[in-house]
Amino acid sequence: MSNTKVERVKTGIEGFDELCGGGLLKNRSYLVSGTSGAGKTIFATQFLINGAMTYNEPGIFIATEERPSHIRENMVAFGWDIEDLENENMIAIVDASSAKIGLPSEEKFVDVRPFDTRSLIDNIITIQEEIDARRAVVDSTTAIGFQIMDPSKIRIELLKIATTLEVLGLTSVLTCEIVDDSHISRFGVENFVTDGTILLYFKRSENVRVRSLEIYKMRGTNHSTKLHPFDITPTGIVVHSQEEVYSML
Ligand SMILES: Nc1ncnc2c1ncn2[C@@H]1O[C@H](COP(=O)(O)OP(=O)(O)O)[C@@H](O)[C@H]1O
Ligand SMILES: [Mg+2]
Repeated sequence: MSNTKVERVKTGIEGFDELCGGGLLKNRSYLVSGTSGAGKTIFATQFLINGAMTYNEPGIFIATEERPSHIRENMVAFGWDIEDLENENMIAIVDASSAKIGLPSEEKFVDVRPFDTRSLIDNIITIQEEIDARRAVVDSTTAIGFQIMDPSKIRIELLKIATTLEVLGLTSVLTCEIVDDSHISRFGVENFVTDGTILLYFKRSENVRVRSLEIYKMRGTNHSTKLHPFDITPTGIVVHSQEEVYSML
């Protein structure tokens, strides 16, 4: 009899892991999609911070969108001292954002311009030898997509990145910025290279905006199919797993 049991990787995001049988599947990749401001970067960062601080799992943050200095500054508001974790080799940030716009970078790990998958993968392998990471974040796939433009090529390049992360033993979260909630990815291909798709909504209902989260797809596991409200609190994202959102459907 087969004894295959997939290991779970807890995001540690309050209320989330119980929506999908206890966590993400180990060595798989997940797309987190949402409009600008939906909470994608916070979700992805929280996954890495919890890995480093709670589960003793180092993480790699591939920053293609925001500059690393901004990410560090923004996350201090949640009490997450990324710099400390970097000094302890529990988190490494690859700056793939500064080169893109021609700015010099003072980061330890910098990716060259124009975007090149091979160079990014080399960078990831180098970091992996140094910190033996278990988790990775690519924030965002959209910035990579805009440097390639052709959806069939975007699909191939993202597949190379996702597969590399998997082979290196990393469970990864890839973010995707959509323009409206009628789509689940920007270029229509990002969701094909990942094992799961998580959608973050920030929708107006009467005179307030309500945040909610939906697990749209998750291979290999049972998961909630409901929309669950969440808050961005002073300690990060808290998902209300017992509650549902109906009004915006
Ligand atoms: N310290 C905070 N407390 C509460 N909400 C915050 C805090 N910091 C950011 N936010 C909310 O999160 C949003 C940004 O989240 P972010 O993950 O960067 O979005 P995305 O990456 O999807 O564009 C902000 O627009 C704001 O509404
Ligand atoms: Mg973001």
